[in-house]
Amino acid sequence: MIELNTIFNENCLDTMSRIPNNFVDMVLTSPPYDNLRDYKGYFFQFEEIANELFRILKNGGVVIWVVADASENGSETGTSFRQALYFKEIGFNLNDTMIYYKNNPMPTSGPRYHQHFEYMFCFSKNQPKTFNPIMEICKYNGSANMKNRGTKGELNYKKVERTTEKKVGNVFFYSVGGGISTKDKIAFKHPAIFPEQLAYDQIITWSNEGDLIYDPFIGSGTTAKIAQLLNRNWLGSEISSEYVEIAKIRIASIKNNIFELV
Ligand SMILES: C[S@@+](CC[C@H](N)C(=O)[O-])C[C@H]1O[C@@H](n2cnc3c(N)ncnc32)[C@H](O)[C@@H]1O
Repeated sequence: MIELNTIFNENCLDTMSRIPNNFVDMVLTSPPYDNLRDYKGYFFQFEEIANELFRILKNGGVVIWVVADASENGSETGTSFRQALYFKEIGFNLNDTMIYYKNNPMPTSGPRYHQHFEYMFCFSKNQPKTFNPIMEICKYNGSANMKNRGTKGELNYKKVERTTEKKVGNVFFYSVGGGISTKDKIAFKHPAIFPEQLAYDQIITWSNEGDLIYDPFIGSGTTAKIAQLLNRNWLGSEISSEYVEIAKIRIASIKNNIFELV
């Protein structure tokens, strides 16, 4: 049986080969996309990994796949679309194409607008079994003038209470960079972390306390840190031993209760 709350310093395919069928409640990950970064040990067999994710996920579980395309020879690669269609082909439901909007992205060169977003695809194995939507106050909160028909058919206007909350939209806005994505300075030794707030928002939406969350490309350990904080179980794989060390330091700070959140 695989030991929970552990990061395995290996190819995620090796980790998944030891995970039983229908075992994991949620996957939250950002794969190494195209050749955007040098991750010291780059090794990415997309189709095998997607098939394995389907196998280990419980019925109703979700995969949150945070991804963007590189530009090569003047064209975006379209890799994220191809991956999304492959997930559908092997039986996943494309439940929600959410957007991770960066308020302050790196400038983009060439004849195109600045690249402000990445996709956060939500693939589910059948319908999601857990959905705890983040809510916001309605813009027109409180009482409002509503039209009503009177007893003689005449139109009356009277004050009624409106619903006060609604689900937020599927574009999530985050500021990124030093001291903003996380307060953990050491995390920035990794070139491509996602914001802690992103991990927080996704984990509370698609899982409950005690659930098991897996990140096959855990990098600096953001998924594990936030899963630990939110009383979820977790598992991670990371091919680079240098990044595993960073992740372990960040997770220890949560376990020892000495952390600062953004
Ligand atoms: C985009 S980064 C993930 C960053 C992470 N979300 C964070 O917040 O730190 C992708 C990671 O996948 C790792 N990686 C690449 N191929 C891998 C594989 N086959 N198995 C496990 N990890 C791999 C890279 O070393 C890199 O750290």
